[in-house]
Amino acid sequence: MEIRVGAGDVAHIQTPALIVNLFEGATQPGGATGAVDRALDGAISKLMADGEVKGKRGEMTLVHTFGRLGAARVVVAGLGKEKDFTADTVRRVTAEACRFLRARGVTRLATIAHGTGVAGLATSASGQAIAEGAILGLYRFRHYFSDDEDQREVTELTIVERDAVRARELEEGVRVGRILAEASAMARDMVNEPANVMTPSRMAEIAQEMSRDYALEVEVLDETRMEALGMGALLGVARGSSQPPRLIVLRYWGDQENRSQALGLVGKGITFDSGGISIKPASGMEEMKGDMAGGASVIAAMVALAQLKPVVNVTGVVAATENMPGGSAQRPGDVVRTMSGKTIEVVNTDAEGRLVLADALSYAVKLGVSHIVDIATLTGACVVALGRVCTGVMGNDQALIDRVINAGKATGEKMWQLPTFDEYREQIKSTVADIKNTGGRDAGAITGALLIGQFAADKPWAHLDIAGTAFTSKEDGYVIRGGTGVPVRTLAELALGMARS
Ligand code: BES
Ligand code: ZN
Ligand code: MN
Repeated sequence: MEIRVGAGDVAHIQTPALIVNLFEGATQPGGATGAVDRALDGAISKLMADGEVKGKRGEMTLVHTFGRLGAARVVVAGLGKEKDFTADTVRRVTAEACRFLRARGVTRLATIAHGTGVAGLATSASGQAIAEGAILGLYRFRHYFSDDEDQREVTELTIVERDAVRARELEEGVRVGRILAEASAMARDMVNEPANVMTPSRMAEIAQEMSRDYALEVEVLDETRMEALGMGALLGVARGSSQPPRLIVLRYWGDQENRSQALGLVGKGITFDSGGISIKPASGMEEMKGDMAGGASVIAAMVALAQLKPVVNVTGVVAATENMPGGSAQRPGDVVRTMSGKTIEVVNTDAEGRLVLADALSYAVKLGVSHIVDIATLTGACVVALGRVCTGVMGNDQALIDRVINAGKATGEKMWQLPTFDEYREQIKSTVADIKNTGGRDAGAITGALLIGQFAADKPWAHLDIAGTAFTSKEDGYVIRGGTGVPVRTLAELALGMARS
């Protein structure tokens, strides 16, 4: 889809469809919507007076113009109440309006820049949110349908803006929004691919392709290297599968003078989680092809950063393996020795994410990162605690945690912190090894996080449990069924924020 900023007037732009907007509770259509209303001899005002158009968020009203306007159709998109308006409203409304028109066979669209008037959104922020909303909202994953007729795609979106300075700001926002949204879509694709395609080797191959395309430094460790490094926890999980594991490293150097400062992004890349010998129930197990979402988000965020080029260093590490119950699989009760030297009793082979992350964090520390953020579809317990609304955030450094949460506020990817009181550590004490890999049902998201934190080597560390947010079964705004791409945009925003300060 081409997204351009078109100089011109909303009443005269020639387009099959123009998206305008309305706040809930507005008594008159204002701004560009008002101009369109006047050209339509007050059609929108009349619909408002009749109570048919209210401006509620998600409301879409299609008006055919029959030649009274350059646009053949106008969609009046409800923005909801002005006091609730944020950049996320623009993402959602743009996504829903674009899908609404695509469903009616419209492939070329125009829109006004939402929210830059009374709502006070910066012009570039509006352009960014429009690009993100359109790309993410129109996303679909269809390449396994052999008969894919009648799938007309939106090919062109024009943001109409008369003022040249504002048009340039919109263009800059669109550039950034496109990079971030396409990175999220890349993570969605990786999550949506079936596990027979998206294997650890395929993830490594993608990282290598990305390093070539975007000049990122890449390193892929195979089993021999993992053995030499003593990565017994990662190798223990990989034992049950015939797919060889991969430890994938992508590095972006935006601040060459400060190479000792680097943000480490560490992702769980379980390309299929059967549970291993502690096997999962059959129902819903297919979802576990998405257990590499954390790893996918790291690769995708690196790709975004390589294009946005902030002055900051970022190292991405992805521990990629399957968790399968093959004949050589590790058993409940096994003890593994991690790269750090710490031993872990594997009480439950289905608590594999923390095992692979233990060695991945140690490797990130060895590579010299100064801060660590790990991202994992780690626990069903996090879904029980927070539902599918927000990502669980834990860690050992409140400043880093706050940065992550605030980055999430900017992107609309909601985050909520859970506590990590020392008392919880009791639950992962083992009678045969340094720690055990499960702490029982109570506070499962927290005890999982605390195990991972043991391998952060006193670096500021934050953990994102995306078990509830990485994939979804329902369409909502710019979120489509399947992989959501969470938290790619937040990880990129976090790095951008670190570069700014
Ligand atoms: N990948 C799962 C967690 C998960 C569940 C992610 C649902 C997304 C949706 C993880 O490896 C797992 O199996 N966790 C166990 C841990 C338990 C054995 C301590 C869980 O949550 O039940
Ligand atoms: Zn898992
Ligand atoms: Mn598991």
